Amino acid sequence: MNSWNDGYFTDATYTYGYYRELSPVYMRWCLLNKGIAAPDINEDSCHCELGFGQGVSANIHAAATPGKFFGTDFNPAHAAQAQKLAEASGADANFFEDSFEEFANRDDLPQFDSIGFQGVWSWVSAENRRHMLEVARRHLKSGGMVYNSYNCLPGWAPTAPIRELLTLYDKNFHGNGDINERVQAALKFVGEMLDAEPAYVKLAPTFQSTFEQLKKQNPHYIAHEYLNLDWDLMYFSDVAQLSQEAKLDFATTAMPIEGEIFHLPQKAKDFLSKINDALVREQIQDYFINRNFRKDLYVRGLRRIPNAEAQEKILSTRYVLMTPAAEVPLTFNTSLGILRLSEDAYRPLINHLAADNFRPKNLLKFRSKVNATLEVIRVLILTGHVMPCQSEAAAELVTESCDRLNAHLCERAKFEEAISFLASPLIGGGVNVNRFKQLFLAQYKGGVKAADKLADTVQKLLSRQGQRILFNGKALDTPEKTTEHLRTLAERFLTIDLPILKALMIV
Ligand SMILES: C[S@@+](CC[C@H](N)C(=O)[O-])C[C@H]1O[C@@H](n2cnc3c(N)ncnc32)[C@H](O)[C@@H]1O
Repeated sequence: MNSWNDGYFTDATYTYGYYRELSPVYMRWCLLNKGIAAPDINEDSCHCELGFGQGVSANIHAAATPGKFFGTDFNPAHAAQAQKLAEASGADANFFEDSFEEFANRDDLPQFDSIGFQGVWSWVSAENRRHMLEVARRHLKSGGMVYNSYNCLPGWAPTAPIRELLTLYDKNFHGNGDINERVQAALKFVGEMLDAEPAYVKLAPTFQSTFEQLKKQNPHYIAHEYLNLDWDLMYFSDVAQLSQEAKLDFATTAMPIEGEIFHLPQKAKDFLSKINDALVREQIQDYFINRNFRKDLYVRGLRRIPNAEAQEKILSTRYVLMTPAAEVPLTFNTSLGILRLSEDAYRPLINHLAADNFRPKNLLKFRSKVNATLEVIRVLILTGHVMPCQSEAAAELVTESCDRLNAHLCERAKFEEAISFLASPLIGGGVNVNRFKQLFLAQYKGGVKAADKLADTVQKLLSRQGQRILFNGKALDTPEKTTEHLRTLAERFLTIDLPILKALMIV
């Protein structure tokens, strides 16, 4: 335990996740999508992230968004890691090791266009939540955006005791030592307790399956999620009310559309539509879709724009398809079941975006079917197959910083599989690119364009490090099998991934 950590878990560093919802370009699009005015993003903009963890999102956004980027995380290992990445990109990034309280009180900060806190709110004390809001109250521009994600009620109600059990065990029987051992010991204890069939589990049928899913997670994630002193579940309406104190109006979720809404029976839709107060309706909706995690966008001074103007902005935005057209599934899973999409409605738009080697395109040619088109593009963005792009001028401004960050990340991939994302100047955000693809990409940029050679170099690198590839759960145990497998991956990289990476301006 340290004295600076305010009960936050600091015995191990956090995972290397990337979250598109923290991207100012994406936040802006989500607001326009709901007819809400949003700040322009250009070289005069300033953005901020609180509690940036390993700084993957913060650095990708600092590199891929014009303007200045700020952030803080009081864990010195996190701040050092974020600063190292910023040095590599050369972006105008200013990452501090301040606590939220110290950061709120700084007098050398600009006014921000956006502030993001991803996965922080539920895991810190009420006092620290107040400090986070104080950052927004003091340092957010009028009209600026705030993204906040958190565990919420009622969705967590039946399974919240899992967390109590893990911390109860950890506090009383373990509490220090190797983090993997601590997490495994606490999980083992809860597993043994469930085998003894406590009556509570009969009342909470999702308890067992949630626990089974939890066991598969990274121990560092489990430690940060469950072993903190603070872990507060809140209702949406309480968060919205607190946020008002910092002059923040709830705008929308950072979801283009709620997939679950498609499954709601008509009587549920009728009931919701009768609730006139938008905040009450939003809260009641959480009961209907049983939401346990919220991704919310707030605005300091919400202004609606005319519907026609919002539609025009959304249709004239450029979009990029990030999955090969033939691989975009016409089904997707929501927490309430599988949603089937219509071939006739979806294929024309998917094919339009795939044409001309995935070159980003606006949707103006679909203007005559605007409502259907908006629904399709929202679902494709929700499912992660399409992303809205920033302006050509903005993308040009950030190309070099993205190139430098990406080159650094690809170089690191030679030694570890830590950060599986690269920065795209086109979308102003991150794209999932795994270690092998990063290794192929670095070679491709260096002039190697044959699958055999790409595969051979990676095979030699893995062999020097004594690493083996797991394929279908089994380690590939000879250099020949490894090279063969890598050649298949390299061929796919050259034919399928590369055109998309080029469209995203990563190559
Ligand atoms: C659950 S992690 C989330 C990290 C990152 N946002 C992500 O989602 O990958 C919460 C982060 O907040 C930081 N943090 C917690 N309390 C803090 C405080 N009072 N001041 C500054 N940082 C804090 C922790 O060090 C940690 O990196």
